Amino acid sequence: MEWILAPMDGVTDFPYRNAWMEVFGPYAKMHRSVAPFVTLVPGSKVRRSHLRDLWPENNRMEVEPQILGNEAEWFLPMAEALHDMGYVSVNWNLGCPVRQVARKQRGSGLLPYPGKIADFLDKVLPSSPLALSVKVRTGYFSAQEIFPVMEVLNAYPLQYVAVHPRIGLQLYKGMADWDMLDRILPLMEHVCVYSGDIDSVAKADAFCARFPSVREIMIGRGMIADPFLPCRLSGYVFVSTEERFLFKLFVEALLRHYWRSGLPEKAVLQRQKMFWSKFSGDFVPTGAFGRIKSLDSVKEYVQVLDSLFEDKIEHGFLA
Ligand SMILES: Cc1cc2nc3c(=O)[nH]c(=O)nc-3n(C[C@H](O)[C@H](O)[C@H](O)COP(=O)(O)O)c2cc1C
Repeated sequence: MEWILAPMDGVTDFPYRNAWMEVFGPYAKMHRSVAPFVTLVPGSKVRRSHLRDLWPENNRMEVEPQILGNEAEWFLPMAEALHDMGYVSVNWNLGCPVRQVARKQRGSGLLPYPGKIADFLDKVLPSSPLALSVKVRTGYFSAQEIFPVMEVLNAYPLQYVAVHPRIGLQLYKGMADWDMLDRILPLMEHVCVYSGDIDSVAKADAFCARFPSVREIMIGRGMIADPFLPCRLSGYVFVSTEERFLFKLFVEALLRHYWRSGLPEKAVLQRQKMFWSKFSGDFVPTGAFGRIKSLDSVKEYVQVLDSLFEDKIEHGFLA
């Protein structure tokens, strides 16, 4: 089984990916990630600053870029910029459920229009310097939309199709629809990558028992809550002292990578709070988020970390 870090806009950007890789990479069979989307932009040249998350020098983990948009004429300059940076493939986002995005027939908002999907692929594939993969939901208004979409996708040479079996209108409510996946899988002619709700070893085992033909699974929210999850899924068993030690290293690495990423201090702190609001497991010191959520500075944050863990936090990089 291959585990892939799912794209999560505003969450799994390069400082997160690098911090996770630094601490947990050696214990997990998770070597690939799909980066959060970059939006297609008008013009014949794409500015390098638009692609900062993807600069090779910023990335320790193998990363596949993802694009969001439906404008075929904007695709080629983006593909060329990515190719110049050394990328060989790109993922097309047909899953984003955000209303403002979907309203413009982007992300999952394009799924009700299979003809437009075919039109985009007809225009971009012949001249693209990059191989293409696609990440879909099962529809925007209704899961029935996936059937004509799958027929279209089958007609093109795609590297894989990642399926998150929810519809756009659902956002993240309810459960990933495995019954729907059951119906789609036999119709898919491409490699299927699965994405959705794999947040424990038990859930992964249940998925693999039901869908043995799927060999690549994306993990998103489950590993934001439990950063050990990809290691557990790879068969690694930690004792609780190891968990506490590695978790401390991880929060230290998160702070260091975000600090060095050049984000303003307020944004660095906001990110740490966001991660702490999601962490869940025995490795989380009791009452930690309550003490962190209203802090005003990174200096205060480091002091709280020092009191939460037995060993002092390494914070020389803040100087
Ligand atoms: C905050 C957030 C941001 C996301 N951003 C993206 C994105 O940029 N591109 C994408 O294809 N999917 C995105 N997703 C969807 C995830 O990649 C994934 O398909 C979804 O969360 C279900 O998997 P999970 O239950 O393992 O998280 C995002 C999800 C969340 C919660």
